[in-house]
Amino acid sequence: MKTEIGNDITAAKQFLENGEPVGIPTETVYGLAANALNEDAVLKIFSVKNRPHFDPLIVHVFSIAEIKKYVQEIPAKAKLLFEKFSPGPLTVLLKKKKLIPDLVTSGLDSVAIRIPNHTLTLELLKQLDFPLAAPSANPFGYISPTTAQHVFAQLQNKIPYILDGGATSVGVESTIIGFENNEPIVYRLGGLAIEEIENVIGKIHVELTESSNPKTPGMLKSHYAPIKNLKIRKFENSEMEIHPMKTGVIAFDKYLDGIEKQNQILLSAKGDLNEAAKNLFAAMRSLDESDVEEIIAVKFPDEGLGKAINDRLKRASTDNRH
Ligand code: TXA
Ligand code: MG
Repeated sequence: MKTEIGNDITAAKQFLENGEPVGIPTETVYGLAANALNEDAVLKIFSVKNRPHFDPLIVHVFSIAEIKKYVQEIPAKAKLLFEKFSPGPLTVLLKKKKLIPDLVTSGLDSVAIRIPNHTLTLELLKQLDFPLAAPSANPFGYISPTTAQHVFAQLQNKIPYILDGGATSVGVESTIIGFENNEPIVYRLGGLAIEEIENVIGKIHVELTESSNPKTPGMLKSHYAPIKNLKIRKFENSEMEIHPMKTGVIAFDKYLDGIEKQNQILLSAKGDLNEAAKNLFAAMRSLDESDVEEIIAVKFPDEGLGKAINDRLKRASTDNRH
């Protein structure tokens, strides 16, 4: 199958209506989308990505009114969050209606829903009469794609079309929130900062789940990982064995001493965590494809999107691989 890249919404729509998976842009990362109500189409997502069936998919819709078609109810706090942050990098777990196939939720009774903030994809969703199930458009466990070219590099010949909406503006996946006894809990740190959520609904628990926890089965410990070894350098002066020529660095706003500058990537020279998040996955990819033999990442400030960056680096790091 030849994979085309373009910005033709009608072409994307046609493939999706025929039950084919299509690469789509969002503000976080590119998704691999299919008709969420069509099990055969959803199965193709799992097989293209090589994704285990116990890892559920996020369902993307056009508006808050649409959400009501697929869930039993929207709790008041969830509604508040959707009103405040959608379209945007927010995913909420809500009790599903039967209409959503068990395959999409891996048998769980909640479905993850989000309204992505990208003009092309919102227009596409508006024109479709079904919602789109879409995980990130990377082979399972690898770095998420933030450009159409990243998707092409890994999924070419496996999908017919990639809708090209340029580089994503947020760069890390959506923040996932669920409710337990009406109390909101963050299960995945992401593109919507905890501080922003707390400004709206007050103090919120963060419970980052891993493969052993059935709440968000996809939060495997090792994920978002490059092929090369990646280590996190925790402190300014920490002694780490570094080969000046063979080590690649992912840093925030200043270069590390003693390592070739050309092997170092600053995620934001002006020290902006949002800009750093936007550049994170492309930096991991480019070092993975370069001549360096290992990658060192600095620890980012633990605030705003720095929390999501540190989470992704930790999951990508070699210490987390088994
Ligand atoms: O920003 C994003 O959320 C991107 C774009 C494409 O929208 N999507 C994304 O999907 O990151 P994915 O499949 O890579 O991660 C989805 C994660 C699952 O691994 C799981 O942890 C959680 O969302 N999830 C999905 N459905 C769930 C459910 N019903 N219950 C609990 N967790 C769920
Ligand atoms: Mg993913």
